[in-house]
Amino acid sequence: MSEVLSTAAFDERIATREAKIGIVGLGYAGLPLAMAFAEAGFDVTGVDLSAERVLAIREHRSYLVDVPAQRYRGLDARLQATTDYAAVSELDALTICVPTPLSKTRSPDLSYIVSAAESVAANLRPGQLVVLQSTTYPGTTEEIVLPILQQSGGEVGSDFFLGYAPERVDPGNKQWTIRNTPKLVAGVTPECRRRTELLYREIVDTIVPTSSPMVAETAKVHENTFRAVNIALANELALMCDRLGISAWEVIEAAATKPFAFLPHFPGPGLGGDCIPIVPHYLAWRLREYGYSAQLIEAAHEINARMPLYVVQKVADALNEVSRPIKGSRILLLGMAYKADVHDTRESPSFEVMRQLLQRGGEIVFCDPWVPWVELDDARHETLEWNADTVSSADCLVVLTPHREFLERPLWDSAQLIVDTRNIVPPETSARVTRI
Ligand SMILES: NC(=O)c1ccc[n+]([C@@H]2O[C@H](COP(=O)([O-])OP(=O)(O)OC[C@H]3O[C@@H](n4cnc5c(N)ncnc54)[C@H](O)[C@@H]3O)[C@@H](O)[C@H]2O)c1
Repeated sequence: MSEVLSTAAFDERIATREAKIGIVGLGYAGLPLAMAFAEAGFDVTGVDLSAERVLAIREHRSYLVDVPAQRYRGLDARLQATTDYAAVSELDALTICVPTPLSKTRSPDLSYIVSAAESVAANLRPGQLVVLQSTTYPGTTEEIVLPILQQSGGEVGSDFFLGYAPERVDPGNKQWTIRNTPKLVAGVTPECRRRTELLYREIVDTIVPTSSPMVAETAKVHENTFRAVNIALANELALMCDRLGISAWEVIEAAATKPFAFLPHFPGPGLGGDCIPIVPHYLAWRLREYGYSAQLIEAAHEINARMPLYVVQKVADALNEVSRPIKGSRILLLGMAYKADVHDTRESPSFEVMRQLLQRGGEIVFCDPWVPWVELDDARHETLEWNADTVSSADCLVVLTPHREFLERPLWDSAQLIVDTRNIVPPETSARVTRI
């Protein structure tokens, strides 16, 4: 390796914004991060295998809800994008934000991290800081990424630097941004951590260092697991309240008046999104290697995964009350996105609800102001408009995603029958309403 960027030189380049920053993987996590560094005054190069995304950035087109086209204004030429990893050799620091999905057998698929790390290693330059930001199981930074980078011949902590700084973005959330969401940072060596901290200080108000990458990796997966387990608890409460003949929503609102030691979570049609349904399996999978079975994670998964079928049962019961079977009934699903006010349909439970209702012979249509069309089992379904005709022509409405359009323009009185999995339909509506 040629001469390493000294500590003082690295610090100086960050302080003067001369440092060149790279972001590998320009999706929900990577693109807002690239924007944040560019807005802070750095020259940023995004590297993505998708020529389509690279072109969209070059043409200042938006492809993510959190990054509208107007955010490109004022960046001048500070944000570049390429599919060519050769650009990595020009960078002082880079962050890897590639996907970490599950394989078909629900085990971690680190192939994106491995491939990105290999491409970075092939272009590693002395003194470079590489930070992994993808969500992953404890041990990934030091056991998977480090050996790949070491193949370039350098020593970590002197020739190159490796950190971990987990992503915490909540897409669509206007209150908690990259700037005001505290950032966990860790390094393989103290100097790796110091450089990682220095880098993120430029765009984040509060930095929280941890003693090792494994602590930060575990903290991140624990955050998502906390949510998955609490949602499962709320879902189980809904199943129990159904037996008791009372409203789970009223129970939770009542419990939430306790000013301490209770954090309200609410039931719904199941888990969705790129993180909560997936990340707990990363933790459970890793712990199996240590002979530990993460029972609470498994139980939470089972309860959450059962919810779409429970919704289907509620639809069948509601239709039964008006002497109709699912077969032949026109059922309007409200919302295919996994949560309110986003385009993202990844892992959305709406798909399983749709699949199950189609299998039972229903005529299934959907309305989602954020999702123009969906593909399910090779068939394409297009959204209907949110208007009184759409609503009144359905035998049953199923509220799955509480988009603000449904709240701001309520059309519930045009409906005959509603199954509400989000408790957004007001009690005074004239339609027959079943809540989960
Ligand atoms: N989406 C979220 O809300 C969220 C929140 C917290 C954490 N995360 C984590 O952030 C990471 C990235 O997720 P995302 O939602 O941004 O994914 P994404 O699918 O939106 O984007 C990933 C991007 O990486 C690119 N890519 C894949 N392999 C590549 C490679 N070898 N080299 C260069 N580019 C490559 C893809 O083309 C894509 O543009 C994941 O670990 C995820 O769990 C995501």
